[in-house]
This record gives sequence, structure tokens and C-alpha cells, in this order.
Amino acid sequence: MGDYTMKGAELASLLKGQLHSNMSFNGMAGVDDESLHLSEEDIKWWRDAKLGLFIHWGVYSVIGKGEWAYFNEKIQQEEYRRIAQQEFHPARSAREIAEEWMGHARRAGMRYAVMVTRHHDGFAMWDSKYSWENFTSASCGPKADYVKAFTDACHGAGIHTGLYYSPMDWRFPGYFDPKGRPENAALMKEQAYRQIEELCTGFGRVEILWYDGGWLAHQGTDADAAWFWEPVKLNKMVRSHNPKMMVTPRSGYRGDFECDEGPHEAKGGIVPVPWEKCMSLSNAWGYCPDDKYQTSESMIRMLVNVVCRDGNLLLNVGPDPEGRFPKEAVETLDGLGKWMEENGEAVYGTRGGIWQPKDHVYGSTCKGDTVYVHILDGEAFQGMSLPGIDRKIESAELMDGRAVEFAQDPGQVTLRIPEDVIRERRIDTVVRLRTEQGTACGD
Ligand code: GLC
Repeated sequence: MGDYTMKGAELASLLKGQLHSNMSFNGMAGVDDESLHLSEEDIKWWRDAKLGLFIHWGVYSVIGKGEWAYFNEKIQQEEYRRIAQQEFHPARSAREIAEEWMGHARRAGMRYAVMVTRHHDGFAMWDSKYSWENFTSASCGPKADYVKAFTDACHGAGIHTGLYYSPMDWRFPGYFDPKGRPENAALMKEQAYRQIEELCTGFGRVEILWYDGGWLAHQGTDADAAWFWEPVKLNKMVRSHNPKMMVTPRSGYRGDFECDEGPHEAKGGIVPVPWEKCMSLSNAWGYCPDDKYQTSESMIRMLVNVVCRDGNLLLNVGPDPEGRFPKEAVETLDGLGKWMEENGEAVYGTRGGIWQPKDHVYGSTCKGDTVYVHILDGEAFQGMSLPGIDRKIESAELMDGRAVEFAQDPGQVTLRIPEDVIRERRIDTVVRLRTEQGTACGD
């Protein structure tokens, strides 16, 4: 089996969640309700956290053809249940698995984690009372509550907790024909409301509800299906249990941040709304043996490009049937973590700016009166100047403290990176600029 390639409805699902080149998002078309809005203060922890871990793991991991296996391979329900029952049998306890995930997340410098609790196949990874036909990891197969283990492990590791949930469920013919089979579709909706309520009430502190798959019959956008899901009503229920829980736009409600899904580059200017790029370290989200993986270099570059445009990066791993991270994923995460140890100051707690990024050459982040210039192409940068700024720069240095020569006049700022550093061709050369007090970034 070679690299995984998405097509058909699976590809359409990815595309409907992308940032367009004109800086608009499909989610923005979602229905709105002011009473659901969170304040900038409410989502500050998330904007500060920057880097998160996404986990796609379930019955599909045993099949090894991505999380769309049930649909793409036209597997019958009975057969899928048999696989869940007989083949999804991780040897280790749920707790051991979840704690190992947290170890990877911490080493990579990730500050939040989002686990798929139930994908479109309908298999709930917790002891759900409202699962249609009792299709859960607690009742069949491993007989374990992985959501409980995951949330406990997040809390124990000090990682902010998020749960992914797909309202849609392929097991219901009403999903594919909501107008023709309204009674059946209503059962699916009832399951979604009740399971979401379980996720909001049964696992202690959960800070993100990461909806996916609010569209109907694989058509249109999530917002187009709002007539069916009634996302304002749904999210009012969510907030009645958890007033500050952040939600994605995929329920059809506008949500608290925008999603840009997939591994394409983050380019262009600073995005003016809170946003998150989510992508997988491999081609598929769910485990596929022999899939192709991103390198740590490409993920460092991605992270820099995202944070300089004021976004977050949610990186997905599809653990193998035993719940282990594939070794290529571990290498990439460890490389990213090593970089974060040295450069995390220029990422965590920052906001994009003060300069607009220049694709492939540089971008900037800022925090208080410090600005970090992220130089992705030292040779190209060396011949350029940055637009003038109205705050006085007091010092410029590399992250290891070595001084960088600089000159400032009202029209421009120039930095001279030491030649030996340019020759090293670092992925990102960070220059820390301290500016005069009282001109804090974001004020
Ligand atoms: C896409 C995929 C879905 C995956 C999601 C993650 O929508 O179709 O399987 O869970 O992306 O964001």
C-alpha cells in the first residue's frame, strides 16, 4: 500500500473547511447568534497556546485505510461491528495509551489536544448511553472508555482539552436523504444532541468542542445544513453546561474561530479573525501503514507561517491499532519540540505582526513590547528593509543573545543578520527586537 490519496466526498469534506485565497472562510457563512459569542479574553488561552495535537483513532485504525474506510470501502454495518468487536483490541490500558499521547504532545511543545470521540462511522470512543445500537468502545471490542482516559491524561499533563465530535453518522440512511427519510434523520439528530450533552457533562473540564461534519448527504457546506441541525439551539445547550467552551464552525453556527483544513501553505497577510490550521502529519487523518509523513522542517515552517498570520496550528496523528504513534510522526514531533524549546518564546503568547508577512521570506510575531522577526529566507532578507514603525527599537538580538546590527529611520527598519548565520540556512532565524516601553503589541 502506498501514500494515501483523498478523493470524492472525502476530498470535498476537506475543501469545504478551507481558507480561501481572498481570506474568507466557509464557516463565516454560518448562522449567528450574539448570545453565543465569546470575548477575546475568553479565548485568550487558546490564542496563546498556538500549537495543538489532533488525534484520529478508532475502529478505522485497524482497517488501515484512513478514517473514511467504512464509507469508501463500502463496508457493511455488521462487518464493521465485527471488526470493532473482534479486531479493535489494543493490548495496553486506555490510561497507558492516553498518557503516552500526552508525553508526545508535551515533548512537541503542544499546549492543547483534541481527540476524535466519534467520527462519521458512529463508533463512540466512550461509554455513551445514547449511542445508536450501543456502538461504543465500552460495550464492544476493547471495553474501555478512551475519552475518559484522554481527558484525565490531559488534565494530569496540564494540556488544554478538546473533543472532536461528528454530528453526522453514516449508519443512518436519513443522513443521505434527510428530506425523504425525516424520521430516520431525526434519530441521528437526537443521538448527536444527547451525545454532545454527554461530552459536555461527563468529563470534567473540556475547553473545545471540535465539531466536524455538519453537512448533509455530503453536499454543500455545514452552514447549508443549519435548517436541520439547529446549531443555535444545540450550542445554547452546550453553553448551558459549559459557558466558555469554544466551538468550531462545523455545526453550522459561526463558531469561535475559523478552520483552514489541509496541508497547503499559509500565505498572504495576517488573518483578521481567530483561526486554526488543522492538518495531518500523514496524508490521511486516520492510520494508514506506509503513508507519507511531513518532516519536522516542514512543520516548523508551517507553524511559523501560521503564527505570523495570527493563527493556531493543530497537528494530527493517526495512532496505529495499538494506539501507538507511527515512528515517523514521533520523529517529526520531536524535531518540532526541539525547535520550540529554543524558539517557543517567539511563538507562545504572541500575536501576528507588527509587520505584514512577506511570503517565503519573513513574518513577525509580537508580545508586549517585544517583536520577533521570523526570517525564513536569510539571503533574500539580507537585501531588504522592513517598513518603518512608530515605536523606537532599543535592541536587536538572536535568540541566543548575539547582537544583530540594526538601523531605524521613519521610513524603514533594516537588520543585518551575521553572515555565518545566513550561511547556516536555518529554517527560521528569529530576531528579538525590544522596543520602547508603553507601545505594547495588541493594544
Ligand atoms: C475532513 C475529513 C474528516 C476529518 C476532518 C478533520 O473533514 O473528511 O475525516 O476528520 O477533516 O478536520
